[in-house]
Amino acid sequence: MKTIIEPFRIKAVEPIRMTSRGERQEILARAHYNLFAVPASAVLIDLLTDSGVAAMSGEQWAALMRGDESYAGSPSFARFEAAVQALMPFKHVIPTHQGRAAEAILFGLLGGPGRIIPSNTHFDTTRGNIEATGAEAVDLPCAESADPQSLAPFKGDMDVRRLEELLERDAARVPCVMLTITNNAGGGQPASLANIKAVAAAAHRFGKPFFIDGCRFAENAWFIKQRESGQQAHSVADIVRDIFSQADGMTMSAKKDAFANIGGWLALNDDALAAEARNRLILTEGFPTYGGLAGRDLDAIAQGLKEIVDEDYLRYRVRANEYVVERLVEAGVAVVRPAGGHAVFLDAKRMLAHIAPLQYPGQALAAALYEEGGVRGCEIGSVMFGKRPDGSEAPAAMELVRLAMPRRVYTQSHADYMIETILTVHEKRDTLRGMRIIEQPLRLRHFTAKFAPLG
Ligand code: F0G
Repeated sequence: MKTIIEPFRIKAVEPIRMTSRGERQEILARAHYNLFAVPASAVLIDLLTDSGVAAMSGEQWAALMRGDESYAGSPSFARFEAAVQALMPFKHVIPTHQGRAAEAILFGLLGGPGRIIPSNTHFDTTRGNIEATGAEAVDLPCAESADPQSLAPFKGDMDVRRLEELLERDAARVPCVMLTITNNAGGGQPASLANIKAVAAAAHRFGKPFFIDGCRFAENAWFIKQRESGQQAHSVADIVRDIFSQADGMTMSAKKDAFANIGGWLALNDDALAAEARNRLILTEGFPTYGGLAGRDLDAIAQGLKEIVDEDYLRYRVRANEYVVERLVEAGVAVVRPAGGHAVFLDAKRMLAHIAPLQYPGQALAAALYEEGGVRGCEIGSVMFGKRPDGSEAPAAMELVRLAMPRRVYTQSHADYMIETILTVHEKRDTLRGMRIIEQPLRLRHFTAKFAPLG
């Protein structure tokens, strides 16, 4: 059969409340055009994030009941640890309440003033946690990643030559090398296994540990299986093990490729670093066998990890985004290609060429999609990345609006509705105006900044 169906049936449903355009205009103004301030109950299709919003399976709900809430040595932890190590063969697995807690612990140990931490592209919380220690977060994406129209298969790769140059110049300042898979900020694009191996080799040649931010590891492994020569015969689970056997550790948000509503972990091989990390964990998260999570959460993650490497699921998951991107490309909408693993990224720089980067075309487009159809996406551009640690502003490399797909939540008719909303906004794109920021915090401003439309 050619039709790729959602490989599940629906057992519990949540109603979507319909809203009118007038109501949405009022809500937008009250939220100061920041979609993080819009109540979820007033959103029709919520594509703000794919994080923590998956539909859990019946087996995961059953696992919640199996959860054991013992303070120390819970069997839930043993199941969680075994499920992680079945895919990611690290010696120490340290649970955290979500990904950024793992980042805070890791960079609290490895960061600090004067240090430099390179990656393909750091996600916002990773960058924030690095910069909070006084260290510098450096992005070294491959050249193709800057061209939203390039159909290169692995636009999430790191530029290994620039990594080597950095290490040759400044090795003493680099405590570790990171790689984000898939590259969320760069469009949900995968890194190839060859690139992962090359980055690991470069780091190790300079005696540096190599850490993977593995949030969307299963989607990345699926792309490797589809696109990298010699990988077709391997199972996704085997490719995942191959990826993580290159690394010395990882940070993870279980809210992505573990189908969990909360959770994360820091995993690593170095005994001394793990001991220090556990000491910090006890201060900030909890005892090392629960780390800020309930036992039931650990069980939901353990079950989710078994389900996420299912290839029928991954085929449907990636196809759902490709379907949307194909329809948008046919209609001439500027969109990042090829389709990413977890999201569709609209190219606001091209669609709204009349709005200057520091008038935030991505924010203007995100607000318009909400007003038009109640679709909530997220700006990934100069609002998110345009403010430097010293307070100055510079345009980001790209002005994107991310429409992230919650896992197993929306159906094809939801996708068709979302496409219709985008096409309607696209037709009137010349009438959209830029935004200015009227209030903002020092860091991670996209969450709480207030905007006003330019007159
Ligand atoms: N790394 C990447 C690549 C991420 O995408 C995220 C979260 C994190 C780390 C932090 O994990 O949220 O569990 O603390 N990304 C979400 C998103 C928030 O919408 O892309 P967390």
